[in-house]
Amino acid sequence: MEPSSRTDSLFLPIQGSTHAPDVDSLYYFIHYISVFFFVLIMAMMVYFVVVYRRRPGGPKIRQISHNTPLEVTWSVIPLILVAVIFLWGFRGFMDMHIAPRNAMEVHVTGKKWLWAFEHTSGRKESAELHVPVNTPVRLIMSSDDVIHSFFVPNFRIKQDVVPGRYTTLWFQATQLGEHHVFCTEYCGKDHSVMAAKVVVMTPEEFKTWSDKDPDEGMPLAELGAKMYQKNACVSCHSIDGSAVIGPTFKGLFGRSEQLTGGGTVVVDEQYLRESILEPQAKIVQGYQPVMPTYKGTLTERQLNGVIEYIKTIK
Ligand code: CUA
Repeated sequence: MEPSSRTDSLFLPIQGSTHAPDVDSLYYFIHYISVFFFVLIMAMMVYFVVVYRRRPGGPKIRQISHNTPLEVTWSVIPLILVAVIFLWGFRGFMDMHIAPRNAMEVHVTGKKWLWAFEHTSGRKESAELHVPVNTPVRLIMSSDDVIHSFFVPNFRIKQDVVPGRYTTLWFQATQLGEHHVFCTEYCGKDHSVMAAKVVVMTPEEFKTWSDKDPDEGMPLAELGAKMYQKNACVSCHSIDGSAVIGPTFKGLFGRSEQLTGGGTVVVDEQYLRESILEPQAKIVQGYQPVMPTYKGTLTERQLNGVIEYIKTIK
């Protein structure tokens, strides 16, 4: 990944989106007009001060009240320049606010103090937004609390993010790598660290990323705890020792259970696996055979996670 703080020019960060060259050319147009007239006016002032200074025996200058051609010139030229700047800026403003119809959409939520993203696929991420390069991406943004502002300097886009309504932005990234996101509306104590990054990938990399298990890298027991909540195991199996609809998970691993119809079983990985995938195989005495199978619901890794999680509940 390329560092996004790299600069290509003296003044501005890298041009990372299709908006950037448009914004920069208008910026430079205004900048160089200002430089040109600043130098012109300063030079003429100095020239007149020197040439027409008062000196003994010098020419007597007559008072000039007005000069119509000169006044028209210095009114019409700025008028034309300002009109050009307005029309150019207005066109750019419209381009930046109307996303292409085929744009990929991402929901953005600002909250004290992080940026959360949800892709239409349901994939969620926070503090990082992964997008494919050369693809229009439309951000549908809202805030959970106060006003924030979403700013990606490399993309030259910035927009307030307001509670209770949506604001939108769109961009088409042209540079692979990571691009900083800042919050640019003062929003409280950690405003200054309310940052994120846009990670721009090739379409192939993005596809791989999209297909990847979002829980990859999460410790198994932690993944199991998540599955315990997400799959509502919690509604039948307590972790505090109380019996609900099924046996509690507390101290379950290694325990010896009496089975309905006689016999005992020592709770080990093999038994837990069987109980999750084929819940009716062995019923613990005193409970009804009501548990549904989780075959196909849990992946192999999630299954391992649940087993590791149960081991931790002592
Ligand atoms: Cu959010 Cu400043």
